[in-house]
Amino acid sequence: MCGIVAYTGPRQGAALVLEGLKRLEYRGYDSAGLAVVNDSGLEVHKAPGKIAVLEKRLAGHLPEGHTAMAHTRWATHGAPTEANAHPHTDCGGTIAVTHNGIIENAGALRTALTKRGHVFRSETDTEVLAHLIEELHGKGASLGDAVAGALHQVEGTYGIAVLSTREPDTVVAARKGSPLLVAIGTGENWVASDASAVLAHTRSVVYLDDGEIAVVRPHDYHILDLAAVEKEKAVTHVEWDLATIERGGYQHFMLKEILEQPESVRNTLRGRLLEEEGAVRLGGLNLSDDDLLKIDRIVITACGTSWHSALIGEYMMEELARIPTEVEYASEFRYRNPIVDERTLVVGISQSGETADTLAALREAKRRGARTLGLVNVVGSTIAREVDGGIYLHAGPEIGVASTKAFTSQIVALALLTLQMGRLRSLSILQGREVVRALARLPELVAHVLAKAPEVEQIAERLVRTANVLYLGRGYNFPVALEGALKLKEISYIHAEGYPAAEMKHGPIALIDELMPVVFVAPRDAVYQKVVSNVEEVKARGGRVIAIVTEGDTGVSRLADHKVEIPETLDLLTPVLSVLPLQLLAYYIAVRRGCNVDQPRNLAKSVTVE
Ligand code: G6P
Repeated sequence: MCGIVAYTGPRQGAALVLEGLKRLEYRGYDSAGLAVVNDSGLEVHKAPGKIAVLEKRLAGHLPEGHTAMAHTRWATHGAPTEANAHPHTDCGGTIAVTHNGIIENAGALRTALTKRGHVFRSETDTEVLAHLIEELHGKGASLGDAVAGALHQVEGTYGIAVLSTREPDTVVAARKGSPLLVAIGTGENWVASDASAVLAHTRSVVYLDDGEIAVVRPHDYHILDLAAVEKEKAVTHVEWDLATIERGGYQHFMLKEILEQPESVRNTLRGRLLEEEGAVRLGGLNLSDDDLLKIDRIVITACGTSWHSALIGEYMMEELARIPTEVEYASEFRYRNPIVDERTLVVGISQSGETADTLAALREAKRRGARTLGLVNVVGSTIAREVDGGIYLHAGPEIGVASTKAFTSQIVALALLTLQMGRLRSLSILQGREVVRALARLPELVAHVLAKAPEVEQIAERLVRTANVLYLGRGYNFPVALEGALKLKEISYIHAEGYPAAEMKHGPIALIDELMPVVFVAPRDAVYQKVVSNVEEVKARGGRVIAIVTEGDTGVSRLADHKVEIPETLDLLTPVLSVLPLQLLAYYIAVRRGCNVDQPRNLAKSVTVE
């Protein structure tokens, strides 16, 4: 959802910001641009497409200068053309702005600015910022004050970085709704959308909060609120190291992340299981047992893949903790008039911790008095900082745009939360121990399933040219069917739909013929026998069946054209295993179709606009 990186210091800035920008490409890759301040003024270079296109255009001739910034775009206003690529400049070509977010009153501001003589060169909402800053800076305001003055006039969301030839060693950054941080080096400082852009140089970062402006120079930085009052901010040490955000020999991040799941699941569990007590230790909930006992309803809210894990959480929470639980798309929740009060626990699930709709839903829940928790992967992200408490996934950085390891860690974190809530209520110590033991075994079982990657690759070969795929599952594996279908459509552009297996009779069955492969997620669980009947229904109509089954299965396997076996575990944990072949299936199909697996068209990893 647009990535920004800026540098000020003694080194040549262009190469540094371009290198950092590549680590932010998961945030958007519609166009890229670079601005450098040097003795001859402001130099700007842009190109539609990926960062590589811009680099090719520069052909090794990077502009010189010690203050630089770069931007990778996920288009909101205006097509991904060169003119619409960031940075955007003012009329005089002395101010450059990069922006992540949406200026909602850009239309009115543009009309007013045009009347005052400003000439616009792009269709973007961002360009109004350059002209607004120009008006104030031109009248003598410092860059910091001019940015603050401009921001007073805009409505919407932003993470911005601004350069000016009049203050050649300054980067001004500001945030409202879109993530941004200041990274602190020795005699040099940075501004970036997230820490991965700067990890090669420093691990000390200051996360900006909404309504804050940072004035950053090589030897100092100041964080101010919009009324220009200076603020003291804590410096955070980022734990992730560079090796974990690199591909490490894999062809794609997605494959690396799929294969990392034994470790990522282990990390989600690490230090949290109490086997004797049949309970868990969750240090970050910030809610006492009394607080948790007062909860009489849970709402889980999320988007995309995280929403699918939320559905699994709903089933777990109602089955084991017996607490009425609902799942809401964050984008719907925030615009309804949701019924929540201080006895409601609203749980937001987000890999990035930055998804605009999830963040807004949690803020709305908080405003209405609900307790809020975040199940978040990115440490220090906005959601993680704003909720009352939470469970970090500790899955490690997820770079591939299609979420994989975050999903399995989310399910595990939901199981931990369910255990916590359940053990405070009716879940017995024996039941608790059973779940704890099953959780502890998961990493080993995950590794066992992933070792079947070659089998899945062979099945994928047969599906490369298919136009549609239907995914069916029931109970805990219905959300897995949704997730399997999402993975396939995201990265291979094959139309895929997930459905509850029994609902097939109410519509999708009309689509079934020999050209419609049907993936059944059918491990041996409480609804297994029912699913066998659904498989029969598909076979009776000539459908091709690919089945995910439990080891030793005969019922569904007898009917399936292809199958992948997964080991036995508790029903509630089967999704952690059954989703793995589906992730691999989507991956291998997309690779065979020549798709850009890590950066599928039109998508972004972190959606920081609504
Ligand atoms: C985007 C990503 C998905 C992700 C969703 C929610 O659509 O492409 O992979 O599931 O956002 O993101 P979050 O970071 O909140 O989990």
